[in-house]
Amino acid sequence: MKKIIALSAFIFCSNLNAQLFDRLPMEAVLAQGEELYNAPASCATCHGAGGEGLIGPNLLFGPVASDIFAQGESNPVMAPMMASFNFSDEELAAIAIYIRSMAGLPYSEEMRIEMLLNQAAARGNRATQFEFMKTDRDRQIEEIENFSDLAANWVRRSNEGSLRRDYDARVVATFDPGEPKFTPEPGKTYFYENVGTNSSPNVLFDGYVGPSSNQVVVGDAETFEVIASYQFSDDLRATVHTSAVSPDGTQVYITGPREPGPDGRPDPSGSQTMVVADALTLQPIKQVTIGARLHHGAVFGDYMLFDMFARDPDGPGLMIYDPDTDEVVAALYDQDLGGMIYTTWADPDYEYIYALMEPAGYAPGRASGMRAVTSIYQGRLMAMRPFWVAKINATTWEVEMEFPVPGYRPNWALIDSAKENLYIITSTSNISKINLNTGVVDWTNGTGIGPYGASFNADESEIWVADKGEGASHLGRTLTIIDVHEGHAIETVYGGYKVDHVILAPNGREMWATSNAEGRLYVYDEPTRELLRVIDMPQNGDAHGIIFVHYDENGNSSVVRDQGNFHNGINPIEGVALNY
Ligand code: HEC
Repeated sequence: MKKIIALSAFIFCSNLNAQLFDRLPMEAVLAQGEELYNAPASCATCHGAGGEGLIGPNLLFGPVASDIFAQGESNPVMAPMMASFNFSDEELAAIAIYIRSMAGLPYSEEMRIEMLLNQAAARGNRATQFEFMKTDRDRQIEEIENFSDLAANWVRRSNEGSLRRDYDARVVATFDPGEPKFTPEPGKTYFYENVGTNSSPNVLFDGYVGPSSNQVVVGDAETFEVIASYQFSDDLRATVHTSAVSPDGTQVYITGPREPGPDGRPDPSGSQTMVVADALTLQPIKQVTIGARLHHGAVFGDYMLFDMFARDPDGPGLMIYDPDTDEVVAALYDQDLGGMIYTTWADPDYEYIYALMEPAGYAPGRASGMRAVTSIYQGRLMAMRPFWVAKINATTWEVEMEFPVPGYRPNWALIDSAKENLYIITSTSNISKINLNTGVVDWTNGTGIGPYGASFNADESEIWVADKGEGASHLGRTLTIIDVHEGHAIETVYGGYKVDHVILAPNGREMWATSNAEGRLYVYDEPTRELLRVIDMPQNGDAHGIIFVHYDENGNSSVVRDQGNFHNGINPIEGVALNY
């Protein structure tokens, strides 16, 4: 009995309320609905001009006004446009009626009024603001959680003035380089790969045993064949983290152990070294102290730019190294930059160095950034101090600018050919487009899990991101392709386990990616995103970074592509690709 009374009261009420709405001619409603549906950046953009579905689903089932309203409350893709249009209930109902007309579904003025009633109730529900209890800690978090506040109130970390310091590199051993393992041909391009001892046996095959020492590998970039490799003596093994070749393509740099003691074996209290190998014999020539463990290396004009992991007490964080004299031209130290120097990137003209900076103290020394990011992924940390970029003038050695980056633990940077924007990849799965003269963030978006390396395609319209699983699983296996203009993901392709670096080849057509866990290179046809070839490294030793060395018609060699950029006159992004 009660139920019937309640129901009739509702009908009575709604009839009464219905009279509050103006009745409109259907033509006017349809015209308004059509206009709003097709307005720029409105429904048609995502659901198609006929409601058939595009980025958003097919709407021809005929949503009512409150269904559309509810999407604005709950659908992160639609929420921004719903907020900016801020449709009235009448407008929502007009759109809904227009969709019904497109779908060939019945519609009427009565139906529109019913939608309005219904929608008024939906809006009423939403108006109820809940006041929940906040703790003091919640309020502390609220004070720091907004990125624009951080950017607006950034406090400089680095010292003023020139930060250039000296570091005395010493040649502590020399070796007979042996005989050439191959004869390079004029006009051909070769790839170089430094390979270590740390692949992941669990993702390879039963009974897999890794190599006992490091190897330098060379292959034919056109046929994808490995031509030759050389495995160092066990006394020269170390954890490999880069492939780097001198600008003239003659010397290969690879992480070395500590300097040798009197017995010729690594001395636990000696300096950390880098091994220099011959690019034709692939054998060690000499061992040089660099005061830290080599992390990344790239050509920097006539020099090399190196950044380092674990430092000796006197070890720098980054250096400019002269390949002809084995001298350090400039060394920069963490203390002067106000944080730990992680990876370093140069603009195409080698005028500025962008150092990706980590706050210290989340772990001893250089482990800070990695420990911080694993602590976030593993839930031990709820917030972190910011990570930032230091823009260093490579003539005056002053930090000209610093800016924080969205997300945590930036790994990789791309600088566009116009030298306008920096694209930063963070371990916490963000990619951001940042103006490199103002530090203003244009967009930030998510990538696949734990991204590491990234590369532009040849027309700079896309960025391929290697989803390594950095700090997360370390078993990422995809590459995410991001639209440079909007920052949206366009495609995800399969890659090797722990896919680490990815770079556009100097022919401008292929993307080459390294798999740390599998000890393989994955080569993709960039335009079609098809996997062309998987190249096994000898004994599947872990692969890090790729260098392309080109021999011109006169047989002169130069590095044309490494992880830093294209070099020595070749750059498909500027229309100069190698034709092979
Ligand atoms: C920026 C793109 C975008 C725009 C603009 C947009 N939508 Fe959507 N819409 C989506 C996406 C994506 C979904 C699916 C969300 C999901 O899967 O949860 C969606 C879902 C919906 C749904 C739910 C569909 C269902 O199956 O229940 C409705 C209704 C809808 N949109 C209506 C509209 C209307 C009407 C407009 C214009 C006022 C509009 N949308 C504008 C992207 C958009």
